[in-house]
Amino acid sequence: MRNRVIEATWFEYGGYGDADVLQERTEVVAPPGPGEVIVEVIGTSLNHMDAFVRNGKESTWSDDPWPRRSGSDFAGIVVATGPHAEFPVGSHVVGHVRTGAHATHVTVPTSTLVRKPAKLMWEVAGALYLAGATALDTLDQLRIGPGDTVVVSAAAGGVGSIETQLAKHRGARVIGTCGERNFDYLRQLGIIPVRYGEGIVERIRRVAEGPVTAFIDNFGKDGRDIAQELGVADTRYRSSADRREVELSLLRDDPEAVAHGTGQLGRLVQLAEAGAFRLLVSGLYPLADIREAFEDLAELHSRGKIVLATRPVTTYRTIKAREVHEAMTGGYAA
Ligand SMILES: NC(=O)c1ccc[n+]([C@@H]2O[C@H](COP(=O)([O-])OP(=O)(O)OC[C@H]3O[C@@H](n4cnc5c(N)ncnc54)[C@H](OP(=O)(O)O)[C@@H]3O)[C@@H](O)[C@H]2O)c1
Repeated sequence: MRNRVIEATWFEYGGYGDADVLQERTEVVAPPGPGEVIVEVIGTSLNHMDAFVRNGKESTWSDDPWPRRSGSDFAGIVVATGPHAEFPVGSHVVGHVRTGAHATHVTVPTSTLVRKPAKLMWEVAGALYLAGATALDTLDQLRIGPGDTVVVSAAAGGVGSIETQLAKHRGARVIGTCGERNFDYLRQLGIIPVRYGEGIVERIRRVAEGPVTAFIDNFGKDGRDIAQELGVADTRYRSSADRREVELSLLRDDPEAVAHGTGQLGRLVQLAEAGAFRLLVSGLYPLADIREAFEDLAELHSRGKIVLATRPVTTYRTIKAREVHEAMTGGYAA
């Protein structure tokens, strides 16, 4: 069967900058090559790494040609296949790509895809890859398991909310740092919330009920000092810089890295399907509102993930649950 002509819309940028450098572009896409498919994206999410690469803070890919695209997580439907492609047209898939997922369509090798179970919501599936695989890799490296008491910073955020739940699923006692606005959210997941800021070490000691055995610093502020004061061994501490290495490695497009990333994505899909963690989508924006979505992410107070939808049922915006607390307390103070 011949593939139909497919017109895709994506966001690209021709120089470093804030989200306002992103430009929408629409073109007919080339047919997929051997082993490739075109996926119509239904959901794709934002990660801080997209913004760091776009604003030049992250220089690892500074030799990439311009214009550049953004986005690495997606879920969607296969709409065209190249020769020897593994997934037939109509397959529901979850995938990853080094860059270019903030689009209506992506062309990818089938080695980057896993099947999406019907039970997994599109928005959740489209937000799984980078945050989820970073969480899994970090927990694997630290061998978090029963007997551990682990502290995770920015516990209500994209990576932290998955990391904490999976650590708990592995049998660890989990303490998460956050602002008071997120206490109820973490408690309902079985995570012990502790407010960040002055006096945090004492607050952690009070709830730890024994030694803290591991510390994961997502936020990147005072983590090493706090971990040392708590007596956590260096080998069981992960800094924000370590997280950067994990993320960059998950975004590499050599076959070994892609195989690892897809393997981790497969595990995440299974864990999500089994209910080992629940990924909260606290901001859902139409793809066209990508700049606004990035501004939301940059406030550093999102809960769970911010997702772009290519087929939103409505563009009507309701107040987000995470904003209700701020409306009542008057701001984002910790
Ligand atoms: N080193 C790197 O290369 C690298 C890569 C990616 C991300 N990061 C950083 O990692 C952090 C979290 O990433 P993410 O993807 O999980 O982002 P996210 O979803 O934007 O995380 C936001 C979370 O950070 C929490 N937070 C805000 N201020 C905090 C503070 N002073 N101490 C502890 N937590 C605080 C917020 O909690 P409340 O709303 O309760 O305050 C919110 O739940 C971000 O700061 C990001 O810049 C670093």
